[in-house]
Amino acid sequence: MIELTQEELKQHFSEPIFGQIAETADALELECYVVGGYVRDIFLQRPSKDIDVVVVGSGIAMAEALGKRLGRGAHVSVFKNFGTAQVKYKGTEVEFVGARKESYQRDSRKPIVEDGTLEDDQNRRDFTINAMAVCLNKARFGELVDPFGGMEDMKEKTIRTPLDPDITFSDDPLRMMRCIRFATQLGFYIDDDTFESLCRNKERIEIISRERIADELNKIILSPIPSKGFVELERSGLLPLIFPELAALQGVETRNGRSHKDNFYHTLEVLDNISKKTDNLWLRWAALLHDIAKPATKRWEPRAGWTFHNHNFIGEKMVPNIFRKMKLPMNEKMKYVQKMVSLHMRPIVIADDVVTDSAVRRLLFEAGDDIDDLMTLCEADITSKNMERKQRFLNNFQLVRQKLKDLEEKDRVRNFQPPVSGEEIMETFGLQPCREVGSLKSAIKDAILDGVIPNEYEAAHAFMLERAAKMGLKPVK
Ligand code: CTP
Repeated sequence: MIELTQEELKQHFSEPIFGQIAETADALELECYVVGGYVRDIFLQRPSKDIDVVVVGSGIAMAEALGKRLGRGAHVSVFKNFGTAQVKYKGTEVEFVGARKESYQRDSRKPIVEDGTLEDDQNRRDFTINAMAVCLNKARFGELVDPFGGMEDMKEKTIRTPLDPDITFSDDPLRMMRCIRFATQLGFYIDDDTFESLCRNKERIEIISRERIADELNKIILSPIPSKGFVELERSGLLPLIFPELAALQGVETRNGRSHKDNFYHTLEVLDNISKKTDNLWLRWAALLHDIAKPATKRWEPRAGWTFHNHNFIGEKMVPNIFRKMKLPMNEKMKYVQKMVSLHMRPIVIADDVVTDSAVRRLLFEAGDDIDDLMTLCEADITSKNMERKQRFLNNFQLVRQKLKDLEEKDRVRNFQPPVSGEEIMETFGLQPCREVGSLKSAIKDAILDGVIPNEYEAAHAFMLERAAKMGLKPVK
Protein backbone atom coordinates (compact mmCIF):
# COMPACT_ATOMS: atom_id res chain seq x y z
CA MET A 1 0.00 0.00 0.00
CA ILE A 2 1.06 3.61 -0.43
CA GLU A 3 0.79 6.56 1.92
CA LEU A 4 -0.46 9.82 0.47
CA THR A 5 -0.54 13.41 1.66
CA GLN A 6 -3.85 15.23 1.25
CA GLU A 7 -2.39 16.99 -1.80
CA GLU A 8 -1.44 13.67 -3.37
CA LEU A 9 -4.81 12.17 -2.51
CA LYS A 10 -6.50 15.12 -4.24
CA GLN A 11 -4.65 14.24 -7.44
CA HIS A 12 -6.59 10.98 -7.54
CA PHE A 13 -9.80 13.00 -7.82
CA SER A 14 -8.66 15.27 -10.62
CA GLU A 15 -10.99 13.77 -13.27
CA PRO A 16 -13.55 16.43 -14.30
CA ILE A 17 -16.44 14.24 -13.08
CA PHE A 18 -15.37 14.77 -9.45
CA GLY A 19 -15.34 18.55 -9.94
CA GLN A 20 -18.85 18.33 -11.41
CA ILE A 21 -20.10 16.27 -8.46
CA ALA A 22 -18.50 18.77 -6.05
CA GLU A 23 -20.16 21.75 -7.73
CA THR A 24 -23.53 20.02 -7.77
CA ALA A 25 -23.23 19.11 -4.09
CA ASP A 26 -22.20 22.64 -3.12
CA ALA A 27 -25.08 24.11 -5.12
CA LEU A 28 -27.52 21.80 -3.27
CA GLU A 29 -25.69 22.44 -0.01
CA LEU A 30 -25.26 18.73 0.56
CA GLU A 31 -22.18 17.01 1.97
CA CYS A 32 -20.89 14.33 -0.33
CA TYR A 33 -18.14 11.73 -0.16
CA VAL A 34 -16.56 9.01 -2.27
CA VAL A 35 -16.58 5.83 -0.14
CA GLY A 36 -15.77 2.15 -0.05
CA GLY A 37 -13.77 0.17 -2.58
CA TYR A 38 -12.81 3.17 -4.71
CA VAL A 39 -10.99 4.86 -1.81
CA ARG A 40 -9.44 1.61 -0.59
CA ASP A 41 -8.09 0.73 -4.02
CA ILE A 42 -6.31 4.10 -4.40
CA PHE A 43 -4.10 3.23 -1.45
CA LEU A 44 -3.71 -0.39 -2.50
CA GLN A 45 -2.84 0.70 -6.04
CA ARG A 46 -5.46 -1.59 -7.53
CA PRO A 47 -7.33 -0.66 -10.70
CA SER A 48 -10.37 1.38 -9.76
CA LYS A 49 -13.88 0.26 -10.55
CA ASP A 50 -17.20 2.02 -10.13
CA ILE A 51 -17.37 5.11 -7.96
CA ASP A 52 -19.66 5.03 -4.92
CA VAL A 53 -20.77 8.38 -3.53
CA VAL A 54 -22.55 8.93 -0.23
CA VAL A 55 -24.64 12.07 0.08
CA VAL A 56 -25.81 13.33 3.45
CA GLY A 57 -29.33 13.90 2.18
CA SER A 58 -30.99 12.51 -0.93
CA GLY A 59 -28.72 10.52 -3.25
CA ILE A 60 -31.45 10.54 -5.88
CA ALA A 61 -31.85 14.35 -5.85
CA MET A 62 -28.08 14.66 -6.12
CA ALA A 63 -27.87 12.28 -9.10
CA GLU A 64 -30.70 14.05 -10.90
CA ALA A 65 -29.09 17.45 -10.40
CA LEU A 66 -25.74 16.11 -11.61
CA GLY A 67 -27.43 14.63 -14.68
CA LYS A 68 -28.86 18.06 -15.53
CA ARG A 69 -25.50 19.75 -15.02
CA LEU A 70 -23.69 17.26 -17.27
CA GLY A 71 -26.38 17.61 -19.92
CA ARG A 72 -26.40 15.43 -23.03
CA GLY A 73 -24.31 12.31 -22.72
CA ALA A 74 -25.26 11.74 -19.09
CA HIS A 75 -27.62 8.89 -18.31
CA VAL A 76 -29.37 8.77 -14.94
CA SER A 77 -31.10 5.66 -13.57
CA VAL A 78 -33.10 5.90 -10.37
CA PHE A 79 -33.77 2.90 -8.11
CA LYS A 80 -36.49 4.32 -5.86
CA ASN A 81 -36.90 1.15 -3.80
CA PHE A 82 -33.26 1.20 -2.81
CA GLY A 83 -32.98 4.98 -2.53
CA THR A 84 -30.06 4.93 -4.94
CA ALA A 85 -29.32 6.37 -8.38
CA GLN A 86 -26.66 5.84 -10.96
CA VAL A 87 -25.12 8.33 -13.33
CA LYS A 88 -23.29 7.08 -16.41
CA TYR A 89 -21.15 9.59 -18.18
CA LYS A 90 -18.42 9.01 -20.76
CA GLY A 91 -17.75 5.43 -19.65
CA THR A 92 -17.69 6.28 -15.94
CA GLU A 93 -20.35 4.95 -13.57
CA VAL A 94 -21.13 6.76 -10.36
CA GLU A 95 -23.52 5.31 -7.80
CA PHE A 96 -25.24 7.76 -5.43
CA VAL A 97 -26.78 6.81 -2.14
CA GLY A 98 -28.11 8.87 0.76
CA ALA A 99 -26.23 8.35 4.05
CA ARG A 100 -28.17 5.72 5.98
CA LYS A 101 -28.62 4.15 9.28
CA GLU A 102 -29.64 0.54 8.88
CA SER A 103 -30.82 -2.16 11.14
CA TYR A 104 -31.46 -5.71 10.14
CA GLN A 105 -33.82 -8.41 11.24
CA ARG A 106 -32.49 -11.86 11.96
CA ASP A 107 -34.15 -13.73 9.13
CA SER A 108 -33.57 -11.36 6.27
CA ARG A 109 -30.90 -9.43 4.44
CA LYS A 110 -33.41 -6.61 3.89
CA PRO A 111 -32.62 -3.78 6.26
CA ILE A 112 -34.90 -1.21 7.85
CA VAL A 113 -33.43 2.02 6.56
CA GLU A 114 -33.45 5.53 8.01
CA ASP A 115 -31.62 8.68 6.96
CA GLY A 116 -28.37 9.14 8.81
CA THR A 117 -25.07 10.98 9.07
CA LEU A 118 -21.85 10.09 7.29
CA GLU A 119 -20.70 8.34 10.43
CA ASP A 120 -23.89 6.26 10.57
CA ASP A 121 -23.21 5.26 7.01
CA GLN A 122 -19.60 4.31 7.70
CA ASN A 123 -20.71 2.34 10.75
CA ARG A 124 -22.87 0.04 8.71
CA ARG A 125 -20.12 -0.90 6.25
CA ASP A 126 -18.40 -4.25 6.30
CA PHE A 127 -14.71 -3.62 7.02
CA THR A 128 -12.58 -0.72 8.21
CA ILE A 129 -10.68 -0.70 4.91
CA ASN A 130 -14.02 -0.35 3.08
CA ALA A 131 -15.38 2.35 5.38
CA MET A 132 -13.05 5.22 4.45
CA ALA A 133 -14.51 8.28 2.76
CA VAL A 134 -13.03 11.22 0.85
CA CYS A 135 -14.93 14.51 0.90
CA LEU A 136 -15.74 16.11 -2.47
CA ASN A 137 -17.22 19.45 -1.30
CA LYS A 138 -15.01 22.34 -2.34
CA ALA A 139 -14.11 23.51 1.17
CA ARG A 140 -12.89 20.04 2.21
CA PHE A 141 -12.01 18.56 -1.19
CA GLY A 142 -9.72 15.53 -0.80
CA GLU A 143 -10.09 15.26 2.97
CA LEU A 144 -9.95 11.66 4.18
CA VAL A 145 -12.53 10.65 6.79
CA ASP A 146 -11.36 7.44 8.40
CA PRO A 147 -13.02 7.02 11.81
CA PHE A 148 -12.18 3.31 12.26
CA GLY A 149 -8.50 3.28 11.38
CA GLY A 150 -8.83 1.81 7.88
CA MET A 151 -5.43 3.26 6.94
CA GLU A 152 -3.77 1.65 9.93
CA ASP A 153 -5.43 -1.69 9.06
CA MET A 154 -4.23 -1.46 5.47
CA LYS A 155 -0.68 -0.87 6.74
CA GLU A 156 -1.04 -3.88 9.03
CA LYS A 157 -2.78 -5.90 6.29
CA THR A 158 -5.73 -6.53 8.55
CA ILE A 159 -9.38 -7.22 7.80
CA ARG A 160 -11.49 -5.95 10.70
CA THR A 161 -15.10 -4.90 11.08
CA PRO A 162 -15.82 -1.29 12.12
CA LEU A 163 -18.38 -2.32 14.76
CA ASP A 164 -18.64 -5.36 16.99
CA PRO A 165 -18.18 -8.12 14.36
CA ASP A 166 -21.20 -10.02 15.70
CA ILE A 167 -23.36 -7.08 14.62
CA THR A 168 -21.64 -6.58 11.25
CA PHE A 169 -21.83 -10.27 10.31
CA SER A 170 -25.27 -10.87 11.63
CA ASP A 171 -26.56 -7.78 9.74
CA ASP A 172 -25.34 -9.27 6.49
CA PRO A 173 -23.87 -12.78 6.69
CA LEU A 174 -22.50 -12.53 3.14
CA ARG A 175 -19.80 -10.43 4.78
CA MET A 176 -18.34 -13.59 6.30
CA MET A 177 -17.55 -14.76 2.78
CA ARG A 178 -16.36 -11.29 1.83
CA CYS A 179 -14.06 -11.25 4.85
CA ILE A 180 -12.29 -14.41 3.75
CA ARG A 181 -12.38 -13.32 0.11
CA PHE A 182 -10.71 -9.95 0.80
CA ALA A 183 -8.08 -11.62 3.00
CA THR A 184 -7.30 -14.05 0.17
CA GLN A 185 -7.44 -11.52 -2.68
CA LEU A 186 -5.32 -8.93 -0.89
CA GLY A 187 -3.04 -11.26 1.08
CA PHE A 188 -4.36 -9.77 4.36
CA TYR A 189 -4.88 -11.31 7.79
CA ILE A 190 -8.21 -11.56 9.57
CA ASP A 191 -8.24 -9.81 12.94
CA ASP A 192 -8.68 -12.29 15.83
CA ASP A 193 -11.97 -10.88 17.16
CA THR A 194 -13.36 -10.72 13.63
CA PHE A 195 -12.35 -14.32 13.01
CA GLU A 196 -13.83 -15.59 16.27
CA SER A 197 -17.07 -13.91 15.34
CA LEU A 198 -16.97 -15.62 11.94
CA CYS A 199 -16.86 -18.95 13.73
CA ARG A 200 -19.72 -17.96 16.04
CA ASN A 201 -21.97 -16.70 13.26
CA LYS A 202 -21.23 -19.26 10.57
CA GLU A 203 -24.72 -20.79 10.61
CA ARG A 204 -26.17 -17.43 9.50
CA ILE A 205 -24.70 -18.08 6.04
CA GLU A 206 -27.83 -20.19 5.43
CA ILE A 207 -29.87 -17.07 4.57
CA ILE A 208 -27.52 -16.04 1.77
CA SER A 209 -28.32 -17.02 -1.79
CA ARG A 210 -26.20 -19.66 -3.49
CA GLU A 211 -25.38 -17.26 -6.34
CA ARG A 212 -23.78 -14.74 -4.00
CA ILE A 213 -21.81 -17.43 -2.23
CA ALA A 214 -20.59 -18.80 -5.57
CA ASP A 215 -19.59 -15.31 -6.60
CA GLU A 216 -17.35 -14.97 -3.57
CA LEU A 217 -15.99 -18.51 -4.01
CA ASN A 218 -15.04 -17.68 -7.58
CA LYS A 219 -13.19 -14.60 -6.38
CA ILE A 220 -11.33 -16.72 -3.84
CA ILE A 221 -10.48 -19.27 -6.53
CA LEU A 222 -9.17 -16.50 -8.80
CA SER A 223 -6.91 -15.08 -6.07
CA PRO A 224 -3.12 -15.44 -6.33
CA ILE A 225 -2.94 -18.12 -3.59
CA PRO A 226 -6.49 -19.52 -3.35
CA SER A 227 -5.62 -22.14 -0.69
CA LYS A 228 -5.50 -19.35 1.90
CA GLY A 229 -9.22 -18.78 1.47
CA PHE A 230 -10.12 -22.44 1.68
CA VAL A 231 -8.02 -22.92 4.80
CA GLU A 232 -9.88 -20.01 6.42
CA LEU A 233 -13.24 -21.38 5.25
CA GLU A 234 -12.32 -24.68 6.85
CA ARG A 235 -10.97 -23.13 10.07
CA SER A 236 -14.08 -21.02 10.54
CA GLY A 237 -16.43 -23.96 10.01
CA LEU A 238 -18.06 -22.35 6.97
CA LEU A 239 -16.73 -24.91 4.50
CA PRO A 240 -19.00 -27.84 5.41
CA LEU A 241 -21.99 -25.48 5.22
CA ILE A 242 -21.26 -24.10 1.77
CA PHE A 243 -19.25 -26.90 0.14
CA PRO A 244 -19.66 -30.19 2.02
CA GLU A 245 -18.10 -32.29 -0.75
CA LEU A 246 -14.83 -30.39 -0.45
CA ALA A 247 -14.88 -30.51 3.34
CA ALA A 248 -15.30 -34.29 3.14
CA LEU A 249 -11.85 -34.59 1.54
CA GLN A 250 -10.26 -33.70 4.83
CA GLY A 251 -8.64 -36.23 7.10
CA VAL A 252 -6.21 -39.12 7.11
CA GLU A 253 -7.02 -42.70 7.99
CA THR A 254 -4.41 -45.24 9.04
CA ARG A 255 -4.69 -49.01 8.98
CA ASN A 256 -1.91 -51.49 9.60
CA GLY A 257 0.46 -48.56 9.73
CA ARG A 258 -0.56 -47.37 6.25
CA SER A 259 -2.06 -43.93 5.79
CA HIS A 260 -3.45 -42.20 2.74
CA LYS A 261 -2.73 -38.54 2.10
CA ASP A 262 -5.06 -35.80 3.28
CA ASN A 263 -6.93 -35.12 0.08
CA PHE A 264 -8.14 -31.68 1.18
CA TYR A 265 -4.63 -30.29 1.59
CA HIS A 266 -3.44 -32.15 -1.50
CA THR A 267 -6.27 -30.56 -3.49
CA LEU A 268 -5.34 -27.11 -2.19
CA GLU A 269 -1.73 -27.67 -3.20
CA VAL A 270 -2.86 -28.63 -6.70
CA LEU A 271 -5.07 -25.54 -6.85
CA ASP A 272 -2.18 -23.27 -5.81
CA ASN A 273 0.13 -24.99 -8.30
CA ILE A 274 -2.27 -24.52 -11.18
CA SER A 275 -2.95 -20.92 -10.19
CA LYS A 276 0.70 -20.13 -10.96
CA LYS A 277 0.08 -21.28 -14.54
CA THR A 278 -3.44 -20.17 -15.44
CA ASP A 279 -6.13 -17.60 -14.71
CA ASN A 280 -8.77 -19.81 -16.30
CA LEU A 281 -11.46 -20.01 -13.60
CA TRP A 282 -12.79 -23.33 -14.89
CA LEU A 283 -9.41 -25.00 -15.02
CA ARG A 284 -8.93 -23.86 -11.42
CA TRP A 285 -12.35 -25.37 -10.62
CA ALA A 286 -11.20 -28.61 -12.25
CA ALA A 287 -8.17 -28.62 -9.94
CA LEU A 288 -10.47 -28.12 -6.95
CA LEU A 289 -12.71 -30.99 -8.02
CA HIS A 290 -10.23 -33.44 -9.51
CA ASP A 291 -10.23 -35.74 -6.45
CA ILE A 292 -13.72 -34.89 -5.21
CA ALA A 293 -14.86 -38.53 -5.38
CA LYS A 294 -12.02 -39.86 -3.26
CA PRO A 295 -14.12 -40.13 -0.07
CA ALA A 296 -16.88 -41.93 -2.00
CA THR A 297 -14.49 -44.43 -3.58
CA LYS A 298 -12.09 -45.04 -0.71
CA ARG A 299 -11.53 -48.74 0.08
CA TRP A 300 -9.09 -50.63 2.21
CA GLU A 301 -7.64 -53.58 0.37
CA PRO A 302 -5.35 -55.66 2.56
CA ARG A 303 -2.79 -56.19 -0.18
CA ALA A 304 -2.94 -52.90 -2.09
CA GLY A 305 -3.63 -50.66 0.92
CA TRP A 306 -5.89 -47.60 0.39
CA THR A 307 -7.45 -47.42 -3.06
CA PHE A 308 -9.72 -44.92 -4.78
CA HIS A 309 -10.72 -46.90 -7.87
CA ASN A 310 -12.63 -44.96 -10.51
CA HIS A 311 -12.61 -41.77 -8.48
CA ASN A 312 -12.13 -39.87 -11.74
CA PHE A 313 -15.32 -41.29 -13.28
CA ILE A 314 -17.39 -40.96 -10.11
CA GLY A 315 -15.98 -37.43 -9.78
CA GLU A 316 -17.10 -36.65 -13.32
CA LYS A 317 -20.62 -37.73 -12.32
CA MET A 318 -20.57 -35.57 -9.17
CA VAL A 319 -19.70 -32.36 -11.03
CA PRO A 320 -23.22 -31.56 -12.38
CA ASN A 321 -24.79 -31.95 -8.92
CA ILE A 322 -22.21 -29.71 -7.34
CA PHE A 323 -22.62 -27.08 -10.07
CA ARG A 324 -26.40 -27.22 -9.82
CA LYS A 325 -26.40 -26.84 -6.05
CA MET A 326 -23.95 -23.96 -6.20
CA LYS A 327 -25.80 -22.25 -9.06
CA LEU A 328 -22.74 -22.40 -11.24
CA PRO A 329 -23.39 -22.48 -15.00
CA MET A 330 -24.80 -25.79 -16.29
CA ASN A 331 -23.29 -25.26 -19.72
CA GLU A 332 -20.11 -26.05 -21.62
CA LYS A 333 -18.01 -24.76 -18.69
CA MET A 334 -19.46 -27.50 -16.53
CA LYS A 335 -18.85 -30.08 -19.28
CA TYR A 336 -15.27 -28.90 -19.55
CA VAL A 337 -14.73 -29.36 -15.80
CA GLN A 338 -16.29 -32.83 -16.05
CA LYS A 339 -13.95 -33.76 -18.87
CA MET A 340 -10.90 -32.54 -16.95
CA VAL A 341 -11.95 -34.48 -13.84
CA SER A 342 -12.56 -37.65 -15.80
CA LEU A 343 -9.26 -37.49 -17.69
CA HIS A 344 -7.04 -36.07 -14.94
CA MET A 345 -5.11 -39.29 -14.38
CA ARG A 346 -4.49 -40.22 -17.97
CA PRO A 347 -1.30 -38.28 -18.68
CA ILE A 348 0.23 -39.43 -15.41
CA VAL A 349 -0.58 -43.06 -16.08
CA ILE A 350 1.08 -42.73 -19.47
CA ALA A 351 4.09 -40.98 -17.96
CA ASP A 352 4.42 -43.70 -15.34
CA ASP A 353 4.94 -46.37 -18.00
CA VAL A 354 6.65 -46.62 -21.35
CA VAL A 355 5.28 -43.69 -23.32
CA THR A 356 3.80 -45.34 -26.43
CA ASP A 357 2.51 -43.59 -29.55
CA SER A 358 -0.79 -45.38 -29.25
CA ALA A 359 -1.48 -44.23 -25.68
CA VAL A 360 -0.60 -40.64 -26.52
CA ARG A 361 -2.73 -40.71 -29.67
CA ARG A 362 -5.73 -41.93 -27.66
CA LEU A 363 -5.21 -39.23 -25.08
CA LEU A 364 -5.08 -36.60 -27.79
CA PHE A 365 -8.24 -38.00 -29.32
CA GLU A 366 -10.17 -37.87 -26.07
CA ALA A 367 -8.93 -34.52 -24.81
CA GLY A 368 -9.20 -32.73 -28.16
CA ASP A 369 -8.54 -29.00 -27.90
CA ASP A 370 -8.37 -29.23 -24.12
CA ILE A 371 -5.21 -31.31 -24.19
CA ASP A 372 -2.94 -28.46 -23.07
CA ASP A 373 -5.21 -27.66 -20.12
CA LEU A 374 -5.27 -31.33 -19.19
CA MET A 375 -1.48 -31.48 -19.20
CA THR A 376 -1.38 -28.34 -17.03
CA LEU A 377 -3.79 -29.96 -14.56
CA CYS A 378 -1.85 -33.17 -14.50
CA GLU A 379 1.46 -31.44 -13.90
CA ALA A 380 -0.07 -29.44 -11.05
CA ASP A 381 -1.28 -32.73 -9.57
CA ILE A 382 2.27 -33.97 -8.97
CA THR A 383 2.73 -32.98 -5.35
CA SER A 384 4.92 -35.91 -4.27
CA LYS A 385 7.38 -35.02 -1.53
CA ASN A 386 9.77 -37.61 -2.95
CA MET A 387 11.94 -35.42 -5.15
CA GLU A 388 13.30 -38.30 -7.18
CA ARG A 389 9.82 -39.56 -8.02
CA LYS A 390 8.62 -36.05 -8.77
CA GLN A 391 11.54 -35.45 -11.13
CA ARG A 392 10.93 -38.74 -12.93
CA PHE A 393 7.31 -37.78 -13.55
CA LEU A 394 8.22 -34.32 -14.74
CA ASN A 395 10.81 -35.75 -17.15
CA ASN A 396 8.33 -38.27 -18.50
CA PHE A 397 5.86 -35.47 -18.90
CA GLN A 398 8.29 -33.68 -21.17
CA LEU A 399 8.35 -36.86 -23.23
CA VAL A 400 4.54 -37.01 -23.36
CA ARG A 401 4.41 -33.35 -24.40
CA GLN A 402 6.99 -33.92 -27.13
CA LYS A 403 5.14 -36.97 -28.41
CA LEU A 404 1.87 -35.05 -28.38
CA LYS A 405 3.49 -32.45 -30.58
CA ASP A 406 5.02 -34.97 -32.99
CA LEU A 407 1.85 -37.01 -33.32
CA GLU A 408 -0.35 -33.99 -33.71
CA GLU A 409 1.76 -32.82 -36.63
CA LYS A 410 1.84 -36.28 -38.17
CA ASP A 411 -1.66 -37.63 -37.58
CA ARG A 412 -3.91 -34.67 -36.75
CA VAL A 413 -5.93 -36.74 -34.28
CA ARG A 414 -7.03 -33.78 -32.16
CA ASN A 415 -10.79 -33.35 -32.78
CA PHE A 416 -10.47 -36.36 -35.00
CA GLN A 417 -13.43 -37.60 -37.03
CA PRO A 418 -12.94 -41.06 -38.56
CA PRO A 419 -12.41 -40.63 -42.33
CA VAL A 420 -15.13 -43.21 -43.08
CA SER A 421 -18.53 -42.26 -41.70
CA GLY A 422 -21.32 -44.46 -40.38
CA GLU A 423 -23.49 -43.49 -43.36
CA GLU A 424 -20.83 -44.65 -45.77
CA ILE A 425 -20.55 -48.00 -43.97
CA MET A 426 -24.35 -48.46 -44.15
CA GLU A 427 -24.46 -47.53 -47.83
CA THR A 428 -21.51 -49.73 -48.78
CA PHE A 429 -23.02 -52.85 -47.20
CA GLY A 430 -26.70 -52.02 -47.56
CA LEU A 431 -27.23 -51.96 -43.79
CA GLN A 432 -29.71 -50.23 -41.50
CA PRO A 433 -28.28 -48.78 -38.28
CA CYS A 434 -27.12 -51.84 -36.30
CA ARG A 435 -24.40 -53.25 -34.09
CA GLU A 436 -22.17 -54.20 -37.08
CA VAL A 437 -22.02 -50.58 -38.22
CA GLY A 438 -20.89 -49.44 -34.75
CA SER A 439 -18.34 -52.18 -34.48
CA LEU A 440 -16.85 -51.41 -37.92
CA LYS A 441 -16.70 -47.73 -37.03
CA SER A 442 -14.86 -48.29 -33.79
CA ALA A 443 -12.51 -50.83 -35.43
CA ILE A 444 -11.49 -48.12 -37.90
CA LYS A 445 -11.05 -45.57 -35.10
CA ASP A 446 -8.95 -48.00 -33.03
CA ALA A 447 -6.79 -48.91 -36.02
CA ILE A 448 -5.99 -45.24 -36.54
CA LEU A 449 -5.39 -44.49 -32.86
CA ASP A 450 -3.20 -47.58 -32.51
CA GLY A 451 -1.19 -46.54 -35.56
CA VAL A 452 -2.17 -49.67 -37.57
CA ILE A 453 -3.31 -47.46 -40.46
CA PRO A 454 -2.72 -43.75 -41.14
CA ASN A 455 -5.50 -41.22 -40.59
CA GLU A 456 -6.45 -41.13 -44.30
CA TYR A 457 -9.52 -42.01 -46.35
CA GLU A 458 -7.95 -44.60 -48.71
CA ALA A 459 -6.37 -46.61 -45.92
CA ALA A 460 -9.50 -46.45 -43.77
CA HIS A 461 -11.72 -47.54 -46.67
CA ALA A 462 -9.48 -50.53 -47.46
CA PHE A 463 -9.38 -51.46 -43.78
CA MET A 464 -13.19 -51.31 -43.62
CA LEU A 465 -13.57 -53.71 -46.59
CA GLU A 466 -11.08 -56.14 -45.12
CA ARG A 467 -12.65 -56.13 -41.67
CA ALA A 468 -16.21 -56.41 -43.11
CA ALA A 469 -15.21 -59.43 -45.17
CA LYS A 470 -14.07 -61.16 -41.97
CA MET A 471 -17.50 -60.43 -40.52
CA GLY A 472 -19.15 -61.99 -43.57
CA LEU A 473 -20.37 -58.68 -44.99
CA LYS A 474 -20.27 -58.03 -48.74
CA PRO A 475 -20.43 -54.64 -50.46
CA VAL A 476 -23.72 -54.09 -52.32
CA LYS A 477 -22.18 -52.06 -55.13
N1 CTP B 1 -20.47 -3.24 1.44
C1 CTP B 1 -20.82 -3.69 2.69
N2 CTP B 1 -21.35 -4.96 2.86
C2 CTP B 1 -21.53 -5.76 1.78
C3 CTP B 1 -21.21 -5.30 0.50
C4 CTP B 1 -20.68 -4.02 0.36
O1 CTP B 1 -20.63 -2.99 3.67
N3 CTP B 1 -22.06 -6.96 1.94
C5 CTP B 1 -19.95 -1.86 1.29
C6 CTP B 1 -18.45 -1.75 1.47
O2 CTP B 1 -18.20 -0.49 2.04
C7 CTP B 1 -17.92 -1.81 0.06
C8 CTP B 1 -19.00 -1.07 -0.72
O3 CTP B 1 -20.20 -1.38 -0.03
O4 CTP B 1 -16.66 -1.21 -0.09
C9 CTP B 1 -19.09 -1.44 -2.18
O5 CTP B 1 -19.36 -2.80 -2.33
P1 CTP B 1 -18.84 -3.67 -3.52
O6 CTP B 1 -18.86 -2.88 -4.77
O7 CTP B 1 -19.55 -4.97 -3.46
O8 CTP B 1 -17.38 -4.03 -3.08
P2 CTP B 1 -16.00 -3.34 -3.24
O9 CTP B 1 -15.49 -3.04 -1.86
O10 CTP B 1 -16.03 -2.20 -4.19
O11 CTP B 1 -15.07 -4.52 -3.77
P3 CTP B 1 -15.36 -5.61 -4.90
O12 CTP B 1 -15.80 -4.87 -6.10
O13 CTP B 1 -14.07 -6.31 -5.02
O14 CTP B 1 -16.44 -6.50 -4.33
